[in-house]
Amino acid sequence: MTLIRELDIGTPIRVSDTTVTLTIDGEQVTVPKGTSIMAAAMMMGTQIPKLCATDSLEPFGSCRVCLVQIEGRRGYPASCTTPAEDAMVVHTQNADIAKRRRGVLELYISDHPLTCLTCSANGDCELQDVAGKVGLRDVRYGYAGENHLDAPTDDSNPYFTFEASKCIACSRCIRACEEIQGTFALTMEGRGFESKISAGGTDFMGSECVSCGACVQACPTATLNEKSVIELGTPEHSVVTTCAYCGVGCSFKAEMKGETVVRMVPYKDGKANEGHSCVKGRFAFGYATHKDRKTKPMIRAAITDPWREVTWDEAIAYAASEFKRIQAKYGRDSVGGITSSRCTNEETYLIQKMVRGAFGNNNVDTCARVCHSPTGYGLKTTLGTSAGTQDFASVEHSDVILVIGANPTDGHPVFASRMKRRLRAGAKLIVADPRHERGAAECHGACGRHRSAGGRSLCARALRNAGLRCLGQVRGTGPKFARSHGGAHRGAGGGYTCGGPAFRHGRQRCDLLRIGCNGAQPGQHHGHGHGEFGHGHRQYRQTGRRR
Ligand code: SF4
Ligand code: SF4
Ligand code: SF4
Ligand code: FES
Repeated sequence: MTLIRELDIGTPIRVSDTTVTLTIDGEQVTVPKGTSIMAAAMMMGTQIPKLCATDSLEPFGSCRVCLVQIEGRRGYPASCTTPAEDAMVVHTQNADIAKRRRGVLELYISDHPLTCLTCSANGDCELQDVAGKVGLRDVRYGYAGENHLDAPTDDSNPYFTFEASKCIACSRCIRACEEIQGTFALTMEGRGFESKISAGGTDFMGSECVSCGACVQACPTATLNEKSVIELGTPEHSVVTTCAYCGVGCSFKAEMKGETVVRMVPYKDGKANEGHSCVKGRFAFGYATHKDRKTKPMIRAAITDPWREVTWDEAIAYAASEFKRIQAKYGRDSVGGITSSRCTNEETYLIQKMVRGAFGNNNVDTCARVCHSPTGYGLKTTLGTSAGTQDFASVEHSDVILVIGANPTDGHPVFASRMKRRLRAGAKLIVADPRHERGAAECHGACGRHRSAGGRSLCARALRNAGLRCLGQVRGTGPKFARSHGGAHRGAGGGYTCGGPAFRHGRQRCDLLRIGCNGAQPGQHHGHGHGEFGHGHRQYRQTGRRR
């Protein structure tokens, strides 16, 4: 068993009806229009070194490690932010490119602790890998210049640390929190040499962070690192499994050392979560080794008897003989099976197979059907089937989303992140719930436009009375959206109500509004618009001579 390393093509996969054909290092490759040069190169097996790019995030173009040459164009464009074009001729390797990449790495390393051997990410660090790939052997500037080596560590989060001295200001964490999770807990404070990651001016624990771990996963260095890795060391092998905490059913790689789980890493190949997670699946795995957990089968013939540890063979044989005995005495229909909604589909399938095949009856059920019988009834009546008709990914193509009697942010966080991503892109959300639902209630309550008669969130009755016109409109992003809500949601700083500074300063808690800012206000989140060269460029910060 080995550690599963997933392929990272650097920028997200693009889908398009049109393709472009270009030549990279003498080889032709055809890719969907919109694909970056970096991803096109990866698709043909050529790896371009990168630091600020990863395929779960939109390209940003800040580290400049991935520069290439394009025939007929001046300079050395970043391959992550440059789209592939028809008839382009690209060179990813030559002496000139190599020298420039080494130069960039030299600047990074001149302001980085030289503690690789004792670092918790030794062997699992992209900075270390890239320094090796570009052949960095020496740092001409020495290490005595101005640096960030004494930057303090934020240890406040129970699951991960933030070791600021190792930060390369690539902004992957900020973007992961915004683009994937949709919490907007992080920002880049300061400019140039002074730029640093900030959890809204406080520590992680005091911030709006919900400990989903997306930033930790995105971090290319040990700056954001799981405490379990620091304590137990880097894992040795992976086991792919499914989170059983909620019905989303996120796929994870349980990364292990022997029989010990070192960390749970959301699996990119998981169709429900596509590499994202919430705090439960990501960090709440202590139950696996909890002292109260029963790991050996036990039998007792009567409730008054003490439990007796037995082998699996004995336990299974005993259960089978008891089923047979009961059926012989009371008839074939006297036994059945019921699965929990926390079981995977595969487990539920196996139980129904056993009940039908071995018990010879149809006494099979799942608790999901019991709690969701109204939903099942409604679906069957309107659509002809009581099963879901869509997968989670389809929310990304929805224009209007109607959430009835559910609070995805709390109950199914990974789906909520997907849904909020779509809302940030302009979809409308309607919430119908008899309960005081945090996101909708505060949003509609605050603007005073969508309250139901009872002053609660938009309940089904209010919705009906409003003839479905009273929508929790979360349309539009950035200034236009914020202005349309007047001053009702301004933060204490008087800024627009995006997830950016105004929100953080105002300490407001409106989830629905928090989705409204999508980097639409350059200068508020990051100091610069996305993709602008110079953002957080610590390699330009060391001394005046290199600015
Ligand atoms: S753990 Fe999640 S919510 Fe917290 S800062 Fe990181 S990405 Fe944002
Ligand atoms: S903490 Fe954020 S900015 Fe710093 S290296 Fe990690 S991902 Fe990049
Ligand atoms: S959303 Fe969270 S609790 Fe639900 S399956 Fe995914 S990781 Fe587990
Ligand atoms: S990986 Fe392209 S600029 Fe950083």
